[in-house]
Amino acid sequence: MAEGKVQIFDTTLRDGEQVPGCKLNANEKLELALQLEYLGVDIIEAGFPISSPGDFDSVSQIAKAVKKATVCALSRAVQKDIEVAAAAVKHAARPRIHTGIGTSDLHIKAKFNSTQDEILARAIQCVKWARNFVDDVEFYAEDAGRTDNEYLARVIEAVIKAGATVVNIPDTTGYCLPHQYGEKIAYLVNNVPNIDKAIISCHCHNDLGLATANSIAGVIAGARQIECTINGLGERAGNTSLEEVVMVIKQHKHLGLYTDIKTQQLNPISRLVSDTMRMPVQPNKAIVGSNAFSHSSGIHQDGFLKNADTYETIKPESVGADSSKIVLTARSGRSALAYRFQNLGFQFDKQDVDVLYDEFLRVADSKKEVQDNDLTSIGKQYQKNTATA
Ligand code: KIV
Ligand code: ZN
Repeated sequence: MAEGKVQIFDTTLRDGEQVPGCKLNANEKLELALQLEYLGVDIIEAGFPISSPGDFDSVSQIAKAVKKATVCALSRAVQKDIEVAAAAVKHAARPRIHTGIGTSDLHIKAKFNSTQDEILARAIQCVKWARNFVDDVEFYAEDAGRTDNEYLARVIEAVIKAGATVVNIPDTTGYCLPHQYGEKIAYLVNNVPNIDKAIISCHCHNDLGLATANSIAGVIAGARQIECTINGLGERAGNTSLEEVVMVIKQHKHLGLYTDIKTQQLNPISRLVSDTMRMPVQPNKAIVGSNAFSHSSGIHQDGFLKNADTYETIKPESVGADSSKIVLTARSGRSALAYRFQNLGFQFDKQDVDVLYDEFLRVADSKKEVQDNDLTSIGKQYQKNTATA
């Protein structure tokens, strides 16, 4: 793999689909998988086949239909899970099994009532089982974010020795600060002797709103795969949002990183996922929210109309969004009003706009947003008044 390439591992159909209300049927999952492949993701985590017969069928259909991307199935560190995951991806052009176990003290004691040594043995065993079926095995150390680094390094070294090709370091609870998560990845890079034999993957949850920042800290420290979802969907507060990490990497070229995502498809796929999963996108969501390219305050509008770069670092067309919008509210200024009148075909000079502005504010104070039809009646009334004056 080229030095700066960051693989995009999309888990919209697994971690994203776990969200209450987001469950998809097999046809919907297949359609989204094909669109994700077209978007350019490297790996599609298609589901958790042991979880239900429906999910097994859906993962198998995706495995048969997807040709370029790797198709991955999730399993626990349980032999039966791994066998079922292997059966579900067996027709994939590039199959991967994602298996693993919790490694933090809390998970080891509270979930498994076990010990570090026993968990280490189970980690090695699950990777070996999976390697009996596929060459590409990803191991996840669940709750790695709260796992002691020295123990985590021992687990990671052992699973790579057992055949893991990718090692996933999830911040399962979204607890880490970006510098802590980055240091964790750097610790593994520097302390796992065979780390060059595997790709390190970031899987960050958004409980504190830090999933994107943590994933970026991870790739800066040496990880080369990010696990993410469209619109940041996922358990609780969600996962790292695909559109955000892809655009951070694209905008900050000095990092020396890149992805193969067709960024013009980001808004179309966001809408498709939102509609299919019946999960609205918050208007102020970065990159894909309906306000992501809207300017409504007078100060911003004036700057934007003089030079769009003053208030936009991303061109809307580069992410497949509609063109930037100048929204008129009671906080808007004269430049924006003049611009919108001009777009509606009115020829008003500066003095006209000064007069019109008072009437505009009167209307704007009475509603959230002034629309074209409001402006048209303000403009026509003004023309009538000035013609008869
Ligand atoms: O958040 C997590 O730890 C997971 C694992 C199953 C990879 O989703
Ligand atoms: Zn997760």
